[in-house]
Amino acid sequence: MARVLITSALPYINGVKHLGNLAGSMLPADVYARFNRLMGHETLFICATDEHGTPAELAAAEAGQSVADYCAEQHQIQARIAEGFALSFDWFGRSSSLANRELTQHFADRLEDAGLIEERTSRQVYSIDDNRFLPDRYVEGTCPHCGFEKARGDQCDNCGRLLDPVDLINPYSAVSGSRRVEIRDTQHLYLRQSEMQDRIRAWVDSRSADWPQLTSSIAYKWLDEGLQDRSITRDLSWGVPVTRKGAPRPGFETKVFYVWFDAPVEYIGATREWSEATGGDWRRWWRTDGGADDVTYVEFMGKDNVAFHTVSFPATILGSGEPWKMVDKLKAFNWLTWYGGKFSTSNKRGVFMDAALELLPADYWRWYLTANAPEGSDSPFTWEAFQASINSDLANVLGNFVNRITKYAESKFAGKVPVDGEAGEDEAWMVRELETRLPLLIAHYEAMEFRKAAAETRAIWAAGNEYLTRAAPWVKYKTSVEAAAVGTRTGLNLAALFGILAQPIIPGAARTILDALGVPEANRSFALMRPGQDHAGLLDVLPRGMSFSPPPVLFAKIEDAKVAEWTARFGGG
Ligand code: 2FM
Ligand code: ZN
Repeated sequence: MARVLITSALPYINGVKHLGNLAGSMLPADVYARFNRLMGHETLFICATDEHGTPAELAAAEAGQSVADYCAEQHQIQARIAEGFALSFDWFGRSSSLANRELTQHFADRLEDAGLIEERTSRQVYSIDDNRFLPDRYVEGTCPHCGFEKARGDQCDNCGRLLDPVDLINPYSAVSGSRRVEIRDTQHLYLRQSEMQDRIRAWVDSRSADWPQLTSSIAYKWLDEGLQDRSITRDLSWGVPVTRKGAPRPGFETKVFYVWFDAPVEYIGATREWSEATGGDWRRWWRTDGGADDVTYVEFMGKDNVAFHTVSFPATILGSGEPWKMVDKLKAFNWLTWYGGKFSTSNKRGVFMDAALELLPADYWRWYLTANAPEGSDSPFTWEAFQASINSDLANVLGNFVNRITKYAESKFAGKVPVDGEAGEDEAWMVRELETRLPLLIAHYEAMEFRKAAAETRAIWAAGNEYLTRAAPWVKYKTSVEAAAVGTRTGLNLAALFGILAQPIIPGAARTILDALGVPEANRSFALMRPGQDHAGLLDVLPRGMSFSPPPVLFAKIEDAKVAEWTARFGGG
C-alpha cells in the first residue's frame, strides 16, 4: 500500500470562487484523492483558505467587517460550498491558523540562521494621514507611462505595465484618499534566492522528469531568467507577525510576512491543524525524519502558481536545511475560460461555485469540468457544450443504462438478480472490452490525465450499452427466459461496475447506484480493476437471487429553455 499526500492550491479568501478555480485545482485534486483511496492507498488530502494579504484587507473593508471576522465568515462559506461539491478534504484549514503562524516564523528563523535572509532599506510611499506605509495596492495615482489617472501601485489597468508605486505621478492613499503622501525609507526582509539558484536548479533537475511539460517549462523559464532576491515582508497588520526567535523583530512591529511567503507553508500548517484535531501525525507526512520518506506528494494548481511551488517555496524548504518532504508530482492546469474570455463578477460573466449548486447537483459540474479539464490548453466553458455533455454522457449513456436494466429486472424478474443461465458469446465480448479498457482507465488516473480518464469511463459505459444491444434480453425473453436472465444479470452487474468506476468523478450518482444495488462498501474499491485480475468475475458479483430496488432517475436532461435562461443570467457567447 502506497502513501499519497495530495494538496490543492489554496483558494483565496476574498469571496466565493468561480468554476475555473474549481476545475483547475480543487476538483482534479479531489478526483485524484478519491481514485487513490479506491486503489487502497493511504491518502491524505489537504486544502485551506489563503487568508492574508491586501486583497483580504480590502475585501473586509468593503464588507464593513474586521479582517478577522470577514475571514472567519468567508472560510465557513467556502467550506460549505466545498462540501456541496463533495470535495473530500481530510482537512480544510486556514492560513491564519496558529499552526501556520508558528511554522512560517520557524522557517524565517531557519533561513536567517543560514544567512539567506537580510534586512534591506527601500523607498516606499508613506501616508501621513493614515499614519502608515502603503503596500503596492494601497497607493494609486497617475501612470507614468500612459497618463491613466487611477493606476494601482503595482500595475496600470489601462496600459498593463507593471509599476513601482514610488513612480506614480500625483500618488494618493487608496485607504483614505489622502494626497498627503511622501516617499520614506523603510526596512524589509529579503530572501536571497539568487544565492540559491544552483541548489534549486539541481533539485528541479532531479524531479522534473516526473512533471508534466507545463510544469517543468515554467520552472526552467524562471531559473533561466535568473532568480531575484525577493522581499518577504509587507506593511500590513493582518498576517503572520515578523518575529526573530519568538520575539517581535525591532523595526518590524507594523509589518507581517508577505502572503506568498506564508501561503505555501500552510500546506504543512493545515496538516498540523488536521493532526491536532484528529490525533493524526503530521510528521509522518511532512518530515523525512518522521516517516515521510515513503510518501508520494502530489500538488494540484493553476499555471500561475507553478513558479511559487517549483522555485520560491522550494527555496524556503531547501534553505531551512531541514528534512522536509518536497513535492514529487506537480500537476498544473491552464485556464477554464468563459466562452474564451475571463470570468467576471462585475460583468456578470460566468458561474461562481455557490450559484452553480443552486442550478444543478454537484455531479453535473464535476463531470463536465473533469471531462473538459483545461489540461493541454485553456478550455472554454459554454452552456451548449455543457448541455450536450450532460444529456449525452450522463443522462443517455450512463443514466438510461442503469434505469433501463434495473426497471426491466424489476418487471420481469421480480426485482431480483436473475439466477438462471450461464455466460456465452456476448458476455465474452464484454469481458474482452473490460480487459482492454480497465487497465487504460487506471493508467490514465495514475498519469493524472483526467480528460482521458473521463473519456475512458464513458467508453466503458458505452460498451455496456453496446453489450445490451447485442444481448437484447427484452427480445430473447420471448423465446428463452433463461437467455434473458443472463443478459439481465450481466446488465445489472455492469450497472454496479459503472457505479464503482464513476466514484472518483461523480460520487453522488455512484452512491445512488451502488446503494440501490446493495453493493457493500467493502466491494466498492478499485482492487478488482488491477491488471491480471479476473475480469469475467466482475460480471457475476451481485449475489444471484438478491432483491434490489431500482434507483430513481439519475440525471435530468438539460432543456433548451434552461440554456436560454442561464445564458441570459450568467452570460454566453
Ligand atoms: O492563486 C491563488 O489563488 C493562491 N491563493 C494560491 C495559494 S496556494 C499556495 F501556494 F499556498
Ligand atoms: Zn498605464
